[in-house]
Amino acid sequence: MEFFYARLKEAFETSAPNASHVYDLLDPDGRSFDHVAFRTLSEGEFTLDVLDAWLKTDGYVVTGEYQFKEKHLRARSYSKHDSQVRRIFLSELLVNELSEKSQAILKEVTKYRLPFHVIFPFCQNQFLKIDPVDYHTLLRESDYAAWVVTNGLMPNHLAVSVDKRVSEVVNDLEVQGFQVATAGGKVKGGPALLLEQGSIPSDTKEYKSGAVTLFVPTAYCEFTKRWIDPQTGQLFDAFVEPNANKIFESTDLRPVERALAIVKPDATRRGLTNQVLMSLISEGLDIIQVKRTSFSQSDAEQLYAIHKGKSFYDGLIQFMTSGDLSLVEVRGIDCSKRLRKVVTNVRNAFAMSVSENVMHGSDSIEAGEREVSLFFS
Ligand code: CMP
Repeated sequence: MEFFYARLKEAFETSAPNASHVYDLLDPDGRSFDHVAFRTLSEGEFTLDVLDAWLKTDGYVVTGEYQFKEKHLRARSYSKHDSQVRRIFLSELLVNELSEKSQAILKEVTKYRLPFHVIFPFCQNQFLKIDPVDYHTLLRESDYAAWVVTNGLMPNHLAVSVDKRVSEVVNDLEVQGFQVATAGGKVKGGPALLLEQGSIPSDTKEYKSGAVTLFVPTAYCEFTKRWIDPQTGQLFDAFVEPNANKIFESTDLRPVERALAIVKPDATRRGLTNQVLMSLISEGLDIIQVKRTSFSQSDAEQLYAIHKGKSFYDGLIQFMTSGDLSLVEVRGIDCSKRLRKVVTNVRNAFAMSVSENVMHGSDSIEAGEREVSLFFS
C-alpha cells in the first residue's frame, strides 16, 4: 500500500498540478491523508462491484453506502486502518438511467479492454477516444459521465485531513490567492454531521479529440475535518450524502447560472416565505441573497415590462406593489430550468388563482441575468 500511496500521489501530480500543490501545502509532512475518491461506470469492465471485490481482497471494509438519485450515482466508502491510503470513496454512474443517446456513447467508449491489474488505479484513459460532439452530449446530461470518459480510473480527488475548521482553511487558501469551490457553500457539513469538507475547483487538461482540443476537468484537492462519532467513540470514518453531493460538483466547470425567485405579496401575507425558501433548497439550488422589501411601481413595471399591454398587466402591477415580498437570488447548474420546476410545484400546492400565484421564477438564462441585475448588484 505504500506503493499505492506513492503512485496515487504521482498520478495526482501529473493530472492536477495545482491541486497537488495545495495538497502539499496543507500536508507538508505527508501524514494527513484522509481519503481518495475514484469514479467509475456501471457499464464496461470496471464497475463498482468489480472494484469492490478488489478492495475487499486487499483488506478494505465497507463503511457506508450512498445514493445520489438526481446525479444518477451510487457510491460506497471503504476503510483500512493500517494503510496509508486509509479511506477510499468509490462512486459509480448508473448508465442505464441516462438517455438512450448517452448510453450508446458510453457503451461504445467502454468497449476497449485492458487487463484490470494494468489499470487500477493509475490509468489515464482506458477508454476509446470520444469525439467532441459526443463529449458535449454527455456533458449536457452528466458532467460525471464526461469526466469518466476523459479521465478513466484516475483519482478524482485526494483529500487531506485538517485540524482547523474548514472555514479557516478556506480563508488561508483565499488569502494566498487560491479559488475555493462554491457549490453548496464553501464549507460543506459541520460538527452535527461529524464531517466538514471543502475543496478547490478541479484542474483542467487538454484532451485531443481528432483535430479538436477540449479542455476537460481532471482532479482537485479536498480538505476534510472529522469529529468523534459519539456512537463508536472513534473518529467518524464514513461520508455523508449532502456533503458528497456538492463535492462532486468540484469538477463541474460548466458555467453556473443565476436566477431570481420572488416570494410574492400573497405568499408573504399567508406566511409561506419559509416554505418557498425550503422548496428552493430542496431542489439543491444555492440561495445567494434574500431581500425582504416591497416593490415600487417602477420596480414592478421593470420586472414585468414584457407583459405591458396585456389584459392582466395593470392588475399584476397593482398586486405586486400591494405588500411585502422577498427577492431571492439563486444559483446553480441549469438554474432557471430547475427554478421553473420549483415554481410549478409550489404553485400547484399553494396558488389561489392565476394572478395571486405565490412565487415568481426567471424562466430562462437570459431572464435570470436580467432580473437578478435589476434588484441585486
Ligand atoms: P409570473 O410568473 O411572475 O410572471 C407573470 C405574471 O403575470 C404571472 O406570474 C402571474 O402572476 C401573472 N399572470 C399571468 N397570466 C395571467 C392571467 N391570465 N391573469 C392574471 N395574471 C396573470
